[in-house]
Order: sequence, then structure tokens, then C-alpha cells
Amino acid sequence: MKALVLAGGRGTRLRPLTNTSAKQLFPVANKPVLFYGLEAIRDAGIVDVGIIVGDTAAEVRQVVGDGAQFGLRITYIPQEAPLGLAHCVLIARDFLGDDDFVMYLGDNFLVGGIQELVAAFTEGDYSAQILLTPVDDPRSYGVAQLGRSGQIVGLAEKPDQPASDLAIVGVYLFTSAVHEAVRAIRPSARGELEITDAVQWLISNGYHVHSHLITGYWKDTGRVRDMLECNRIVLESIQTRIRGTVDDRTEITGRVVIEPGAVVEASVLRGPVVIGADTKIVGSYLGPFTSIGDRCTVEDAEVEYSIVMNASTVRGVSRIEASLIGKGVEVTPARATPNTHQLVIGDHSTVRLRG
Ligand code: DAU
Repeated sequence: MKALVLAGGRGTRLRPLTNTSAKQLFPVANKPVLFYGLEAIRDAGIVDVGIIVGDTAAEVRQVVGDGAQFGLRITYIPQEAPLGLAHCVLIARDFLGDDDFVMYLGDNFLVGGIQELVAAFTEGDYSAQILLTPVDDPRSYGVAQLGRSGQIVGLAEKPDQPASDLAIVGVYLFTSAVHEAVRAIRPSARGELEITDAVQWLISNGYHVHSHLITGYWKDTGRVRDMLECNRIVLESIQTRIRGTVDDRTEITGRVVIEPGAVVEASVLRGPVVIGADTKIVGSYLGPFTSIGDRCTVEDAEVEYSIVMNASTVRGVSRIEASLIGKGVEVTPARATPNTHQLVIGDHSTVRLRG
């Protein structure tokens, strides 16, 4: 069994952050989303992993390396453009050979691992397996319609009128039968070779495709609110670990992780909160479900239910909430007079200011 991890693509819904960074490397509790997937693959006993990379290949290679840090053997497979999930399978043919494999979307976040799913697939007699879960608005996902006995009746990619509320989760199990399917299908209306169409092709051509309803937590981290939700879920289960310095004017309630070299002075921390290495928190309030990256400064400010990435500064501002702040960002007050906001913001940013 091998794994194919998809870390190419564009990530338009997280612009401008994805203009400069791979969305699969965005931090959830200060760890890249992609790492959670790689760890799940490792824990399922898989060693050989192919990673599809696109424009952000250099960044992914730098952070993931040869995989030794995870106990994995990684092969990078460059994709010239994001031509679709099934296109990724097409170009990974040499790497995959005729082995069964797990296809894991690098921006998907699944709690509970894939160990049992992989074991059940290995023992079962299916050509492919997809995972499904009910969602509120299925229109942004692949959607499955099931028959009375749970068999898949039909699949559709991002349908305007979904036949059910069952979204296809971004973890698929395939035998080598999928190679014939990805060669047979044609690009969709949005110009991509859709894996949903490839799975539908398998069904239409008499292959046995099994669907499994997952009960655990799953999120596609493609949008800001999903990133913040995943961050919340992971922070829910952190244990207190203080390796930085906390002065006696600081009040801590709940669980906090403070990494080495971090300094917290005269502040209030209401966990769960994670503070990265070499970060300074001074005279500030950090509220529940906040992750502050490495080498940041938060001074005379309040931050809650937010993610602040590495090397950013938040100084002298009132409460920032439900926010995703990129790397090397500065958030500071404007001059008192004239009473204006002063902004230098990248393309496709979102800023919400109080009246
Ligand atoms: O998250 C689950 C959904 O993922 C499924 O319900 C859909 O059926 C499936 O098509 C997919 O939809 P998305 O629109 O969310 O896929 P996205 O374009 O975000 O790509 C998923 C991952 O694959 C992401 O990490 C980027 C990577 N990718 C994507 C494309 C299109 C590649 O590496 N190469 C590509 O060509």
C-alpha cells in the first residue's frame, strides 16, 4: 500500500495568503495541516508516499524534506498546472505502479486517523472506497447519492442541486483499477479531470466501489472559518506544556502550550492557547482557541479565536477575533488624528473594521 498526497493546486478561497504560501502548510495549532495527514498515513503503516506539488513545490519540499522526520519515504511528483485530482493520479502512475493506494488531499483535516479504513480496505474486495459525511451545504463538494442498501447510486462534483447532503471526504482508497478510469474520463466544465468522475466511471463500468460513512470530525481547510474551526478542534485536546518563560504578573487559566524561547509578561492567557518559539506576549490578553506562531510579538493587544502566523506583530490594538493573520504581518494603531484607518493590504484580502 502506498499513499498519494495532493499538495499542489491554487487555494483561491484563502487569498491573499495563498498568493505566497501553500495552503497545505497553513498552521493548525502551529503545525502545518499537511503534517496531520502525513502522520495519519504513517500511523496506518504506510511508508512510501508520493506528494504532488505545483507552484509552491519549493516551500513544500523545504518543510517536509525527504520524510525522515515522519518515518516516511517521500517522492515528489511535480504537476505543471492544477489540472484536477484525477490528473494527479495520471501523472503518479510510475510512482504508484500497480499497488493499492490511499489518496489524501493535503488540505483535508480528519480526526481519528485512517488506520482502520486502510486495514478494512486491504481485507475487503473493493476496487475503490470513498468516505462520506453529511454537511450543511454540499454544493462545494463532491456529493454521493446512496440507494436503500447503502450502495452508491451516483456521484456529482459540486452540483447546484445536490441529490443528498453526503459530501465526499478527501481521503480515497484505490486499487490499480483507477488508472483505467483516469485515462477514460474527460475534463469537466471547469476544465479539471475530476476524481469524482473517475470514481463514477468505475461504478458505471461494473467495479465495486464501497462507501463508508465517517462519524469523526472532518474539514476541508479551504476557507478561513474552516481553518479556525480546525484550530479550535486541535486546541481542545492540548495538554499544558510550558517551556518558555512566564512572569508572575501573568495570569493563566486553562491549558496552554508555550514553546522554548517564548516570553510572556504581564498578560492574561485563557486557554486553550498555543504560543510559538521565541514569541513575546507583553501586557496582552490571549483568549480561547488562539494560536500564535514563532517569533511573533503581541504587545498591549487582545487576540481571541484566531491564528497568527510566524514573525507577525500585533501591538496596541483592541480585541482581534476570528482572524487569520499571515506571516510577517504588522497590525498596529493608526495615529489618533485625523481619525482614520491606514491600510497596506495585499490583493484579495479581507478586512473588517468597526465603523
Ligand atoms: O475536500 C473534499 C473535496 O475535495 C471533495 O468533496 C471534492 O469532490 C473534490 O473534488 C475536492 O474538491 P476541492 O475543490 O476542495 O479540491 P481542491 O481544488 O481544493 O483540491 C484538493 C487538494 O488537492 C488541495 O490540497 C490542492 C490539491 N490539488 C488540487 C488540484 C485541482 C492538486 O495537488 N492538484 C490539482 O490539480
